[in-house]
Amino acid sequence: MKILVTGGTGYIGSHTVVELINNGYKVEILDNLYNSKESVLDKIQALTGVRPEFHKVDLLDYPATLEVLSRGFDTVIHFAGLKAVAESVEKPLFYYENNIVGTLNLLKAMKETGCNSLIFSSSATVYGDQGVARLDETMETGRGITNPYGQTKFMIEQILSDACVADSGLSVTLLRYFNPVGAHPSGLIGEDPNGRPNNLMPIVMKVATGEIPELSVYGDDYPTPDGTCIRDYIHVVDLAKGHLAALTHMSAGCSVYNLGTGRGTSVLEMIAAFEEASKKKLPYKIAPRRPGDLPELCAVPDKAMRDLEWKTELTVADAMRDTINYLVKTNSLLKI
Ligand code: UD1
Repeated sequence: MKILVTGGTGYIGSHTVVELINNGYKVEILDNLYNSKESVLDKIQALTGVRPEFHKVDLLDYPATLEVLSRGFDTVIHFAGLKAVAESVEKPLFYYENNIVGTLNLLKAMKETGCNSLIFSSSATVYGDQGVARLDETMETGRGITNPYGQTKFMIEQILSDACVADSGLSVTLLRYFNPVGAHPSGLIGEDPNGRPNNLMPIVMKVATGEIPELSVYGDDYPTPDGTCIRDYIHVVDLAKGHLAALTHMSAGCSVYNLGTGRGTSVLEMIAAFEEASKKKLPYKIAPRRPGDLPELCAVPDKAMRDLEWKTELTVADAMRDTINYLVKTNSLLKI
């Protein structure tokens, strides 16, 4: 089975490519390298013994996208997209054009070349503010999304769902990720964002390496046991395996699954877990709340567990161990 992975040199994409190759799939990657490096291909080769065919192509370039799709694929796993929340507020048109037009070009090229199976990298952000902590797939999406990045995920879900209504031959699986963390246990691949990160773990990593002096904990007066926000942190290897499970359970029409653990961890618990794994103190201060943050968000993962026969196997402690191993192996953390 031949799979095209868009965004395959990125954080979640590269981990998924490794799992795909190790499970016998033939994989090609399309990526514009906006937020990733071509050297990831060397790491994938080291981990799998296979160097996937790489196409440095931007999905906004329709002729080039069509040329790649013309090579013939059974399924596309679509990770390519911009994902920095704060940047999306500053440059909304850039985000809408890249994420929406890029996906439309991909869909057109798939139709043109007879590929009718797609897995889309969505986000729990599409749930917006439901007023409850535990989120399941029956909930209405799209209300209370606070930034253009989140809107693009919601809009793409709508586009794909409409496309499935119009074309009964199309199979689409929307995977709503909760908070991906961790790295490959080999320490060869992990999260390596360009520029200043927004998400908790990449910031924790930069504090550990001294690139950022201290972590700001955004609020300790939330209605949670320790006052800090609670999220559902999922190990990136478990998340990658969720894509394999989705691939083996594709069916006609549009299906949607949460990929999360169902367990919540607070910001202070994340700091404690990092300190436990690294045996070092992580400097932090309590800062004001970040606008748009909700106190507690957790997946109800039951649907994916039942229908995709998938479950998470790794813990936050595993994610911290693997993150530190990744930092040591990439020489960013020489002291631990
Ligand atoms: C964020 C986005 C979400 C996106 C997801 C993955 C918002 C409101 N939500 O989710 O749309 O899908 O990233 O990219 O931006 N924290 C700190 N200090 C920091 C950074 C984070 O205390 O320096 C806290 C946050 O308040 C939050 C938790 O850590 O409680 C996780 O934050 P983050 O990693 O940014 O993820 P989300 O906000 O859950």
